[in-house]
Order: sequence, then C-alpha cells, then structure tokens
Amino acid sequence: MSKPAEIIPENQQSYWDSLSCYYHEITRISVGDFHYGPQIPGERKLRLLPRIRPGMTALELGCGAAQNSIWLSKRGAVCVAADISPQQLARAAALAEREKVKVELLEASLEKFHLKLRGRTFDLVHSSHALEFARRPDRVVRKMAEFLNPGGTLMVSTVHPLYNGSWVEGMVEDDSGTVFDGQFLTDYFNPPDDVRDDIYGRVVSRAYPVSDWFRWLRAAGLEVTAIAEPPAVVDAPYTSDDWADHGGQLDHIPSTLIMVARK
Ligand SMILES: C[S@@+](CC[C@H](N)C(=O)[O-])C[C@H]1O[C@@H](n2cnc3c(N)ncnc32)[C@H](O)[C@@H]1O
Repeated sequence: MSKPAEIIPENQQSYWDSLSCYYHEITRISVGDFHYGPQIPGERKLRLLPRIRPGMTALELGCGAAQNSIWLSKRGAVCVAADISPQQLARAAALAEREKVKVELLEASLEKFHLKLRGRTFDLVHSSHALEFARRPDRVVRKMAEFLNPGGTLMVSTVHPLYNGSWVEGMVEDDSGTVFDGQFLTDYFNPPDDVRDDIYGRVVSRAYPVSDWFRWLRAAGLEVTAIAEPPAVVDAPYTSDDWADHGGQLDHIPSTLIMVARK
C-alpha cells in the first residue's frame, strides 16, 4: 500500500473556498429531502433518522450549503451548521434565506468545532460526506458523541471503503475451466487515498473499513442502530456530474456508507 498522504485541515479550507463555485455548478442537492450522499436515495426512502420534532436541536458538521440543516429547519428543528469554508457557508446563508428558514451558521473545522460549541448539546448530530476529509475521524466521532443529549442520534455518512478501493480488471479460471472476467478488489483493508491535486489545491479523502467505523462508534459510547450501503438510484436528492460518470460501477458497489447510532 502506498504511504497515506498527509491530511491538512488548512488545505481543506482553501481548497473548498476555491472549489465552492464549481462544486455547486456540478452538484444538485435538493432541500426537499435529507441527503446522505451522491446518487443514492435520501431520507424519504431510507427512513434512518428519528422523528423530527419541532424544537429538537441539531448540529451538522461539514455542512456545505447546509441543505440538510435547511430540510430539518423546515420541520421545526433548531439547527446549527458548521463548515471550515467561508465560501461554502456563504452559500448556506443565501440558501437558508431563499428557503426562509433560520440556521445558525458557524465557521468551524471537524477538528476544532467543539471549542466553539462548549456547553451546548443536541438531539441530532450529523455529517454527510465530510468525515473522509478529517485527519482523525475516530476523534471527530468521539467529539460528535460528546455533543449528543442522552437518547440523541448521531448520523455519519462517508465514502464507502469499497468505492475508494483499488479495482483491477481481470480474468480467472476455475477448476472446470470456466473463465470469469470482472473487477477484483486489491486490498479492502487499506483503500488507497483519494488525493485531489488540481487547480483548486490539494486535499485527501480517505475511506476506512466498516469495522473501523463500528469500533469508533462503540468506543464513543454509542449503540449502532443502523448501517446502510444503498445502491444508486435515478431520482436521488443529491446528484453530481462527477459521480454520474461512474454510472456502471455505482450499480454494483456502494459509494456511500451510512451509520446511525444512539447515545
Ligand atoms: C463533499 S462536501 C459535503 C457538503 C455537504 N455535507 C453536502 O452533502 O453537500 C464536504 C464539505 O466538508 C467541508 N470540509 C472539508 N474538510 C473539513 C474540515 N476539516 N472541517 C470542516 N469542514 C470540512 C468542505 O468545506 C465541504 O463543504
């Protein structure tokens, strides 16, 4: 396995600030559903969240344009949405205004958000496709759990380790001489880093085996209540030109890992 690339939170900020405009050009995320990841069904189909009650409190990390917090706010939740990128937060502010809901926006990293929220707790702490950019997702999960009220729910969705895996095309022959050709995964336990080194800067997205996530959630004192690996659908609330290019693969390999846990 190649040596893991360094994940530098400061790089994430400048990368997402510069990418923000293009990201929202190629990404369409509905505020009419709670999304878990690109090309997959949202909450309306998956039913993974607790009942959203007016007045319940929610904290979103790595919120982007905060579509999920906006969806929750429309159902009466009192929402805080945090992101490392001021540009992403500016989009969140504009979208919340357009949708006529109030979301408290906070510039905060996955690594240090706890310093800005001391003394506050939430009924739901959630993050869609941001923890893959964290240097230590195990620590982020632990901090997220600390901010939950007893009985509260944590939801994390992230890139699936099979999706980030290194696949090779190949052929094998069994004892009877039957030849199978297909794709073979080289190493499930150490998916290669997805290093994005382009005009926007350099960031690293990293996937981990499902059992690592399960262990981190348990170590944070949580009871894991659901793990979902949904296949792609055509009517997803989150679609992206980038991900649509991977069409065929998404029919056979889960791209997003969703975990729900209770304190
Ligand atoms: C793929 S986007 C997902 C955004 C949103 N959750 C969604 O589904 O559209 C990743 C988001 O994580 C944020 N992010 C990346 N690294 C971060 C970090 N270290 N701390 C906080 N936010 C971070 C980025 O600014 C970006 O808005």
